[in-house]
Amino acid sequence: MKTALITGVTGQDGSYLSEFLLDKGYDVHGIIRRSSVDFRERIAHLEGLPHFHLHYADMGDSMSLVKVVGKVRPDEIYNLAAQSHVQVSFDSPEFTADVDATGVLRVLEAVRASGLEQTCRIYQASTSELYGKVEEVPQNENTPFHPYSPYAVAKLYGFWIIKEYREAYNMFCCSGILFNHESERRGETFVTRKITLAAARIAQGLQDCLYLGNLSSLRDWGYAKDYVECMWLILQQEKPEDFVIATGVQHSVREFAYYAFKHAGIELEFQGEGLDEVGIVKSIENSQLSTLNSQLKEGDVVLRVSPDFYRPTDVVNLWGDPTKAKAKLGWNPSKTSFEQLVQIMVEHDMAKIAAEGAAAKVRMNLAEYLEKGIVK
Ligand code: NAP
Ligand code: GDD
Repeated sequence: MKTALITGVTGQDGSYLSEFLLDKGYDVHGIIRRSSVDFRERIAHLEGLPHFHLHYADMGDSMSLVKVVGKVRPDEIYNLAAQSHVQVSFDSPEFTADVDATGVLRVLEAVRASGLEQTCRIYQASTSELYGKVEEVPQNENTPFHPYSPYAVAKLYGFWIIKEYREAYNMFCCSGILFNHESERRGETFVTRKITLAAARIAQGLQDCLYLGNLSSLRDWGYAKDYVECMWLILQQEKPEDFVIATGVQHSVREFAYYAFKHAGIELEFQGEGLDEVGIVKSIENSQLSTLNSQLKEGDVVLRVSPDFYRPTDVVNLWGDPTKAKAKLGWNPSKTSFEQLVQIMVEHDMAKIAAEGAAAKVRMNLAEYLEKGIVK
């Protein structure tokens, strides 16, 4: 049985990767950090399984990493932990650098300190943000980097220190340069999830309007569940190498919003430009919706642009070329299409919001009964 250690196990990718490795028969260890609320929703269903173990450690604390690596003695490490929000990295640049840059070095040194440098393979969660202010379109493994946020600059250090340890110490460590990948488990402040949740709430009468930043930004969006397989495949190669993982298809934020609202039963029309651009209800397609939200009508403005979501520097043209991954990893970039991804996320969030709405109704009814003294 192989042993894997995952940093960032509570995140979107960490949760899917844990499931994937457990299915492959691995003993899976993850690191978690102490928090005032125990909120581990994405991995709650795995806790208690005999081959799933959690350890307290922090990417900012070398000693904790040395202790975990020395105790677990993993065959493979998947370093997914990061302050992963680009906009937040402008507010917390130093913390982002500590976790996303120096954190990678701490993991590498923990492996060396444990004498595992010739046996333990390391995957580093690198990113298409390295291409930043892109120098060519689409981007492949040879495209020059031009990081364009504190997050991307920190991740660039991670990329180079992985390469340095590979060359200096002959370690099997690789970077997966992954383009954006989303899912029903995506953090709620990333643009795709923010849109699918808002579309579901607006359709059900629980929100009036969605505020977004740059609608013209272009991304190559894939499904996170498909991408974690590539992380594993990268570590199963004969030689350590870096790979671009992407779908090879590009869409704008505006298009994502259009399709998300459409799946929620609302056809949008975009009017205006820049800060004055709005998304207007063109038609309500699902007859069920008129009962869900009897207030919503054609002509309503349900999407607006707010400068609050503009970034000091924004990456606007990411489009990956997955040719190498197709050839060497057997990666199928069209396993889940853009339309399927949007549908999966909207269906999930429509059900989630409906369930939350029903629970809130029960609580309201109960509060009313209590007030009237019906239930003691
Ligand atoms: P995510 O959902 O934000 O998860 C980040 C994980 O890192 C969480 O488990 C978080 O723990 C953990 N973490 C943050 N700071 C930590 C610290 N100081 N010590 C220990 N753990 C810490 O991110 P994701 O979308 O799964 O992405 C996984 C990795 O891939 C990240 O490195 C990200 O930068 C990179 N990446 C993501 C994408 C994408 O499109 N999703 C694309 C390219 C690269 P808590 O739960 O305690 O916060
Ligand atoms: N978050 C957010 N919120 N982004 C918005 C909004 C909004 O309201 N409105 C427009 N955008 C634009 C951003 O300006 C950006 O150009 C694009 O939507 C995508 O933003 P995010 O979903 O926040 O993702 P990201 O591309 O910045 O970063 C994600 O992907 C990277 C890979 O390219 C993260 O997962 C990173 O960790 C990852 O490395």
